[in-house]
Amino acid sequence: MKFNNKKVIITGGDRGIGKELVKVLINKGVADFAIMSRSLSGLDALNSEFPAVNFIGLKGNVADSADIKKAVAKIMQDWGSLDMLVHNAGVVSAGSLLDMSDEDISTQIQVNLIGPALLTKHCIPLLKKSDEPQIINLSSGLGLIAMPFYSVYAITKAGIRQFSDAIRREFAPDNIHILCVYPTATDTDMMENSKRENMDSPEMVAKESIAALERGDINIVFGGRQR
Ligand SMILES: NC(=O)c1ccc[n+]([C@@H]2O[C@H](COP(=O)([O-])OP(=O)(O)OC[C@H]3O[C@@H](n4cnc5c(N)ncnc54)[C@H](OP(=O)(O)O)[C@@H]3O)[C@@H](O)[C@H]2O)c1
Repeated sequence: MKFNNKKVIITGGDRGIGKELVKVLINKGVADFAIMSRSLSGLDALNSEFPAVNFIGLKGNVADSADIKKAVAKIMQDWGSLDMLVHNAGVVSAGSLLDMSDEDISTQIQVNLIGPALLTKHCIPLLKKSDEPQIINLSSGLGLIAMPFYSVYAITKAGIRQFSDAIRREFAPDNIHILCVYPTATDTDMMENSKRENMDSPEMVAKESIAALERGDINIVFGGRQR
């Protein structure tokens, strides 16, 4: 698998698992990234750490169709094609369904599920121009095994699993490879209020996910034999 000339869009690529995916891909030779997040809060640090790498900041909300169209238009203009799309941005809200605000329910579904569907739709024409197009989708172990107090998050991550399988079949004639990643509890900002111990490190999740991509795997499930 060639990484040297790949052009990569990654949502939420400036923090957490996304940032570690960027670092692994840089070590493999990728030098062109477009990072989409609402704040781009980690982009300056990436620019300082990797001055030889080109980062395009796409400030926007993946749940907003207008922001997505603007971001894809920028990539169309600057790159004209795309090799890898990583749907990593995500939000979680834990707690009883009864205590969750209506807004919280909608936001999780919009960011985690509708965002990747919209961004995929608008990026497919660019991906079709690549010799080796690839999509990485971040689901969750909770998208495989449903847990109480994560009911809405579970909807979104199970949806990403089905979305991955459906688009893999739909775009097989275009040779678009789709890897779906199922992390278990991983030590990032997302888990800062969690009392969990012995979480996976985002570095390990990123390294193993890219290794799975290189093997041509379609799924990688973290969390051991139980999962
Ligand atoms: N950490 C875990 O235990 C765990 C377990 C299973 C699955 N996952 C999944 O792995 C992925 C990465 O998680 P993480 O733990 O690395 O998360 P994180 O540390 O909270 O980082 C999330 C990233 O997504 C961006 N983001 C969030 N909402 C966005 C929006 N509406 N539009 C654009 N960007 C947005 C954030 O930037 P802004 O806030 O600036 O927008 C940030 O860069 C997520 O899909 C998550 O569901 C995580």
